[in-house]
Amino acid sequence: MIRCSNISLTLGGKRIFDNLNLAVPTSSRMGVVGDNGAGKTTLFRLIAGEISPDRGEVSFPSRWRLGYLPQDLVEVGNAPLMELLKEKTGLAHIERDLNEVRNRLSGLKPHSRERTSLLDRHDRLVVSYEALDGYGFEAMAAKILKGLGFRSGDEKRMSGEFSGGWKMRISLASLLLSRPDVLLLDEPTNHLDTESMEWLEGYLASFQGTLLAISHDRRFLDKLTGVTVEISGGMARPYPGNFSEYVRKRSQELEEAEKLAKKQEKEIARTASFIERFRYKASKAAQVQSRIRALEKIDRVETAEASRRVSMRFPPCPRSGLE
Ligand SMILES: Nc1ncnc2c1ncn2[C@@H]1O[C@H](COP(=O)(O)OP(=O)(O)OP(=O)(O)O)[C@@H](O)[C@H]1O
Ligand SMILES: [Mg+2]
Repeated sequence: MIRCSNISLTLGGKRIFDNLNLAVPTSSRMGVVGDNGAGKTTLFRLIAGEISPDRGEVSFPSRWRLGYLPQDLVEVGNAPLMELLKEKTGLAHIERDLNEVRNRLSGLKPHSRERTSLLDRHDRLVVSYEALDGYGFEAMAAKILKGLGFRSGDEKRMSGEFSGGWKMRISLASLLLSRPDVLLLDEPTNHLDTESMEWLEGYLASFQGTLLAISHDRRFLDKLTGVTVEISGGMARPYPGNFSEYVRKRSQELEEAEKLAKKQEKEIARTASFIERFRYKASKAAQVQSRIRALEKIDRVETAEASRRVSMRFPPCPRSGLE
């Protein structure tokens, strides 16, 4: 479970989150939606640990590994593609350490103390190597690159030669290959053609970990997500169901709010006309005062168009002394 608790954050003088709470159950598939600038990317950056909240905290099991695909293109480095993928997933590092340990072991006498500790290290490295499926890595990498639209032979090309959109695919490939427990994908389909998009959908459908995806692509979200969280007004509101179900529930909510707001408007108008009629009538002063207070206390229903909210102000009316 990833838990965002009581998160508040101000960036550049703008309040982005105001006591945001969100629980992401393990293995859930969550679509993250909201207006431009609502804070979707910022939420991912908080979860990925790139930024810290002013208040509150993000927590998840410490052994979990997160894979974060940012919305904006990032430089991927320059190396032959397959080598780059091994570097980025940490496999190259493990391979180097394994080779070094094996070389040192071959030069040591049996039963020496150094040998025992090196053997321990060797075993730990093998576990890490297997966790990244080191033996099947190149085959898996080739499959993923193909799925994302790379051509055979591209794995030998220098990564720096690829254009921005392809660099994003390289980042995505290395994320998938690093076998994270959590995938945070910010607009992953932006730079993909239909075929690669469909391949990614298939791949993610069998992803066992926790998936959070920000996307403007309704079809993508509908296929992959089981819960949709809306970021708005500095808070997060989860809705069970995929994007289409979210849209349905959201419009139902808005319809109900509109109905309630209309009822409220009528009530307000009735009260206002009572106040207008009797505000200078001394015998009604107490009732007028209590209605003014009631009006002030009304918790106005939020509708789609906040600007339509009725706003009424009454000038102070003379007190009659009869209260
Ligand atoms: N480093 C920063 N400094 C100042 N303001 C920032 C910073 N990062 C984000 N913001 C502001 O925070 C708000 C939320 O930004 P964010 O990128 O999280 O929105 P978003 O929901 O991902 O939008 P979009 O749908 O356009 O990607 C925006 O108003 C943005 O301008
Ligand atoms: Mg964004």
